[in-house]
Amino acid sequence: MSKLNTAVNIAGVEFKNPIVTASGTFGFGREFSEFFDLSQLGAVSVKGLTLKPKAGNPPPRAAESASGMLNSVGLQNPGVESFIKDELPFLRGFDTKIIANMAGNTVEDYVEMARILSDSDVDMLEVNISCPNVKEGGVAFGVDERSVYEVTKSVKAVAKKPVIIKLSPNVTDIKKMARAAESGGADALSLINTLLGMRIDIKTRRPILKNNTGGLSGPAVFPIAVRMVHDVYETVNIPIIGMGGVARGEDAVELMMAGASAVAVGSAALVNPLAPIEIKRGLEKFMEENDVCDVTALTGAARMW
Ligand SMILES: Cc1cc2nc3c(=O)[nH]c(=O)nc-3n(C[C@H](O)[C@H](O)[C@H](O)COP(=O)(O)O)c2cc1C
Repeated sequence: MSKLNTAVNIAGVEFKNPIVTASGTFGFGREFSEFFDLSQLGAVSVKGLTLKPKAGNPPPRAAESASGMLNSVGLQNPGVESFIKDELPFLRGFDTKIIANMAGNTVEDYVEMARILSDSDVDMLEVNISCPNVKEGGVAFGVDERSVYEVTKSVKAVAKKPVIIKLSPNVTDIKKMARAAESGGADALSLINTLLGMRIDIKTRRPILKNNTGGLSGPAVFPIAVRMVHDVYETVNIPIIGMGGVARGEDAVELMMAGASAVAVGSAALVNPLAPIEIKRGLEKFMEENDVCDVTALTGAARMW
């Protein structure tokens, strides 16, 4: 078969392949660079950034669950300025696109970060309005249509890079949120973030997580991701970066068939650091075996009954 075309274009930015790392599961790439060449990735979405450094939530902040995990990291990060100075130059050394994921407590926080990051060397901005693990902001924006619209519009007014809005699955109708983000001017969407959950230690009768609740990720959430990506694909005309439980090449294919133009790998990389690369190879193998020459042909290829 002739050479595979794996390149995808997300809001004007060309990824050499559709495989992206999911924010918060890949740090700033340093640890993973010891396992594989980061230039093999389509893009890297870095750990969620805040205006000021953040210590995150007290431990324990991870709990296992059947086919998944709960986390309540609470956006621990060195802050946007330190990221630009200390982490970005290292990542820029690789031939991959860089997505700066950002979180805020107020609309002004998001706008300020978008301004700062627009003047940096990142390729795209990802606005996390869906973190279930911080008391203010985060998910509070992502579960209300008007807030989704307002944050998107405000960030777009100052951003000089394409803006991806990361949607929360903790809503009744994700299509409404997707529409609000598109009306606000979003260039792309990413979904899903984690689903709010809780585990209790039956001996101590206390929640396992010190934060009491956390976000569920991993294979357990995959069918929800497939359904939500499909719903959003049917609703908007902007590209989708799909994620949630992707663990094998076939999962990436499935999420693309549901409507994703690119696929992010999160929790799977915490189990096996080589997961993003193995998933990329699995996707290519599927293409070869099924005569798919161009990966973009997979997006939305599922045929509903
Ligand atoms: C430990 C951990 C930390 C995360 N931190 C962030 C974050 O900082 N910003 C963000 O937008 N999403 C964050 N996420 C959500 C992931 O990017 C992703 O949306 C979610 O985990 C679903 O994908 P997965 O099942 O492949 O992990 C985090 C997830 C995990 C497991």
